[in-house]
Amino acid sequence: MTDEAEDHHQDHDRDIVLEVSGLKVHFPIRAGALIRRQVGAVKAVDGVDLTVTRGRTLGLVGESGCGKSTLSKALLKLVEPTEGTIVFDGEDISHTRGEELRRLRSRMQMVFQDPLSSLNPRQSVETLLTEPLRAHGIRFDPKTKVAELLAQVGLPSSAASRYPHEFSGGQRQRIGIARAVALEPDLVIADEPVSALDVSIQAQVLSLLRELQKDLGLTYVVIAHDLAVVRHVSDDIAVMYLGVIVEETTSEQLYDNPMHPYTKALMSAVPLPDPVAEDARTPVLLSGELPSPANPPDGCRFHPRCPFRQPTRCADERPELIEYEPGQRVACHWAREIASGEITAEEPEQ
Ligand SMILES: Nc1ncnc2c1ncn2[C@@H]1O[C@H](COP(=O)(O)OP(=O)(O)OP(=O)(O)O)[C@@H](O)[C@H]1O
Ligand SMILES: [Mg+2]
Repeated sequence: MTDEAEDHHQDHDRDIVLEVSGLKVHFPIRAGALIRRQVGAVKAVDGVDLTVTRGRTLGLVGESGCGKSTLSKALLKLVEPTEGTIVFDGEDISHTRGEELRRLRSRMQMVFQDPLSSLNPRQSVETLLTEPLRAHGIRFDPKTKVAELLAQVGLPSSAASRYPHEFSGGQRQRIGIARAVALEPDLVIADEPVSALDVSIQAQVLSLLRELQKDLGLTYVVIAHDLAVVRHVSDDIAVMYLGVIVEETTSEQLYDNPMHPYTKALMSAVPLPDPVAEDARTPVLLSGELPSPANPPDGCRFHPRCPFRQPTRCADERPELIEYEPGQRVACHWAREIASGEITAEEPEQ
């Protein structure tokens, strides 16, 4: 992170693009053949607070099924939130519909995991890139606009007349990115933008996202399974577990001093470049599977898998996200005691 970004983060009047509070997305579970009564709910997102600052990248990490995609769809109003508020650029959009929602959509764009299924195979690249502009009634010179968009994502202008299947995975993701930035949006949400790509291509696509951010002043939310991917692109990181955010801080702080036991476990899976540090650290191992969001554990959602859990508070009381260090918020009753070494990890059962 640059010094400028660091200063920016500490500025209390920071320019907030997106502010989410108490956001819930519950999917009803229905049973019965004739009268489909609701018998429960999948609590995919269950009380999320998030802040995204202009010009920065927020990385959102967590294991499969923890609710990352559902959260991002709720932010773009592709699924209706059950509860909570979403404030975008100072405007409460929680209940926005119709024409207003359509206008809003031009300012928030999505980059998908699999560009092949998100790009219409029957449309040429030129059509794919200009369709969002046409849909929003924006006037442009097709020839120069398409060439400009292609150049921005590092593709030759000859790509315009070709079709998605004629490109490699990495090139296709570049087309997906060009389409997302065509409207010069305020916010781009990229849901696992590189997880379908070869490792060697991943770095190129991530650095393209970074360059575009600089050139176009974009703000990103980048979603990934693992911390290694978001590390290089994120200024800030939010760690999600079973529908809630368990830790949120700057990328640097998270790598230097992960506080939540779940973050510690995710970090244990990331190899450290320094072999001395690698040898010195005590890995925090994650046991068991992610519980079902239809029936999440009481108290702290992570407690059944947590090697630091303490009776009986962890099972009884849901921890709030609390600022333990400046700019570092953690939802763990024992964050301070774990950080000081007063509470240590239980050895995993053999
Ligand atoms: N439309 C839906 N109806 C019912 N349940 C859903 C729906 N969409 C998602 N879910 C459930 O909500 C939970 C969260 O799913 P989501 O796709 O948001 O997770 P994710 O973190 O993006 O996972 P992955 O890393 O695998 O993409 C899962 O248990 C999923 O089965
Ligand atoms: Mg997902």
